This record gives sequence, structure tokens and C-alpha cells, in this order.
Amino acid sequence: SQEQKRSDYDLMEQTARYYQQQLRHHANAQLVIDYLKGRGLSGQTVKDFGIGYAPSEWEALCQTLGKNPKQKQQLIELKLATQKDNGRTFDFFRDRLMFPIRDRRGRVIAFGGRIMGQDDNGPKYLNSPETRIFHKGFELYGFYEAKQAHKKLEQLLIVEGYMDVVALAEHDIKYAVAALGTATTNEHMQMLLRATDKVVCCYDGDRAGRDAAWRALENALPHLKDGKALKFVFLPDGEDPDSLVQQEGKAAFEQRLVDARDFSDVFFSRLSDDIDLTQDAGKAKLLSLALPLIEKIPSEFYQENLLERLARFIGRTREQLNAKLKTPRQQHR
Ligand code: CTP
Ligand code: MN
Ligand code: MN
Ligand code: MN
Ligand code: MN
Repeated sequence: SQEQKRSDYDLMEQTARYYQQQLRHHANAQLVIDYLKGRGLSGQTVKDFGIGYAPSEWEALCQTLGKNPKQKQQLIELKLATQKDNGRTFDFFRDRLMFPIRDRRGRVIAFGGRIMGQDDNGPKYLNSPETRIFHKGFELYGFYEAKQAHKKLEQLLIVEGYMDVVALAEHDIKYAVAALGTATTNEHMQMLLRATDKVVCCYDGDRAGRDAAWRALENALPHLKDGKALKFVFLPDGEDPDSLVQQEGKAAFEQRLVDARDFSDVFFSRLSDDIDLTQDAGKAKLLSLALPLIEKIPSEFYQENLLERLARFIGRTREQLNAKLKTPRQQHR
């Protein structure tokens, strides 16, 4: 119900505030603040993103915001607390740096938590599971903050992690967002390409990052209308936007965005990666891989562009490709 939702958002906001207070007052506060400083973050950026600290104790949040049974139940439902078989409840996030995740209206709907203590063997990043107010595939970390920072968003940069978004903001690059520990979904791409005319993908310089880039490209195709640009930056091995902007600073990093590769180049280079285009079998393979993807693009301009290039790659004319299309196009002159 509306009532329920309002109360949920309220509790999430209170929780975010609680974690922020702990960052100032908990016994571990100095360690965590030193960690943030070590990662190059200023107090202002920490404040802008509402970064906090989830105490190392088992029931710190439960004892503060779950004093009555009804509140405790709500903490469990919002996945801020977990109930054991024996009925005991304990905090879901413990000894973690906390990143509040806001929806596009600025309401806290979930958290991402980075582990602090080294001896704990939990995952480095832990995210809120889905709840009645949090649907991962539809939310982007930093989207609200980016919209707050700009009247008009000239471009949006999509990166992998919370620390990437925050480190870029620290260097005055306040237009980065991150998918929440999942792949960049179709819905993410729709959101981004509705909000701005230019989306640049910049994932980590590793295998996972390159695979993520390809999935993002595939998911963006149905949203590529005329006038929308989709670009890709591939980072040096072992680097991510955080590590790189720390090393080289704003201007050099933004130059990478200027030099970004167009999606159409990435499209053909990835598809023909392990295809021998000197062979007929290879040409047929490329055709069968590329056509169904090209057909997803709503922009006739981009579609035509890619079809012309495809024809050249496989040694056919643009007209010959028409027969293969599900919905043949009138050719542009
Ligand atoms: N992530 C996640 N769950 C994991 C690992 C990663 O949700 N177990 C998500 C987080 O959003 C994280 C992002 O993927 O911010 C990037 O992961 P990774 O590149 O592994 O993080 P690092 O750059 O190594 O993190 P850090 O710089 O904080 O050490
Ligand atoms: Mn990575
Ligand atoms: Mn990374
Ligand atoms: Mn990193
Ligand atoms: Mn710096």
C-alpha cells in the first residue's frame, strides 16, 4: 500500500542516516575515515553520496531502529536484518562501508556495502537483495546524484562499481552511474538513453569488463533511436575508472571519453573476433550473427549504416542483404 511504501522509504532513510552517524561516532570510525582518505575521497564527496558505516556488531541496527516488533519485522522485510531459525535477528550489513542506493526521485531503496575488516571472509561487495521497493535491474547507482549535479546531462558514463562512480565524482566527473552488481540490463539502457543523447560504457580492464561491455551493447540496440550515441572505452589491463582517474586525473580521463570507440566498431570487431572472413563459412557466420542484432535497432540511420558495413565485410551488395531481412527496408540514396 501507499502507507506501507511511505513507511519503507522512511525507514531506509533513517537507516542511511544511522550509518552516516556511525561513520562519525563508532569506535571504528577513524579506521573507516582513514580508509576513505586512502582511497582519495574528500568529506564533501562522502557527504554528497551519503556514504556511511555499518557497525561490526551483530545487532547494532536492530537495536537502534528495530526496538519494537513491528519495526524489527520491517527491517527484516527490507533485508536490513536477517532472522535466524532460532528467532534471533541480526544486521544484514556488518563492518561495511555503506553506499545508499537512491531511486530516480532520490529515495533510498537499497544499500551496497564494501567489506572493511580483512579477516572477514564475506564477499568484497554485498548488495541489498530485492525487496518490495528495490528491483535491481531497474535501478542505477548514481543516477539521481548525476541528475542533481547537472541541469542537462550531456552524457552519461556507465561503470561497474560504487567506488568508480564516487571516485569520478571526486574528480568532478559527476555523470557516472553503475549497475548494481548485475549486468547492464535492457531497462538500464532504456533509462540511460532516455535521459541523455550520449552514453559511454567504461567497464573494468579485464575479461569480465569486456564481456559486460558486449552485453551492454546488445541490450542497448533496441533503444538506439536517431540522435542517440553509444560509445565504449576499453581500459588498460587491470585498471578500472577509479584507479585510472586517481592516476591520471580528470582531463586525461575525459580525453578517453572523447576518444571512445563507436558501438558500430565494437559491434563488428566483437562479432568477427574468431571468424575467418576470408572464408565463405566465416562470412555466412558473420551474416547470421549480425543480422538479427541489426534488426533490433529502431534508428533507420544506424541500421542502414551497419547493413552497408556488413555487406562490405561479406562481399555482398547492400541490395543482396535485403532478401535476408525480416522487414526489408527501402534503401536510402
Ligand atoms: N560487485 C558486486 N558483488 C561482488 C563483486 C562486485 O556487487 N561480489 C559489484 C560492486 O558494485 C562493485 C563492482 O561490482 O562495486 C565492481 O567490482 P570489482 O571490480 O570487483 O570491484 P573493485 O574495483 O575490485 O572494488 P574496490 O575498488 O572497492 O576494491
Ligand atoms: Mn572488476
Ligand atoms: Mn573494479
Ligand atoms: Mn576498484
Ligand atoms: Mn586525484
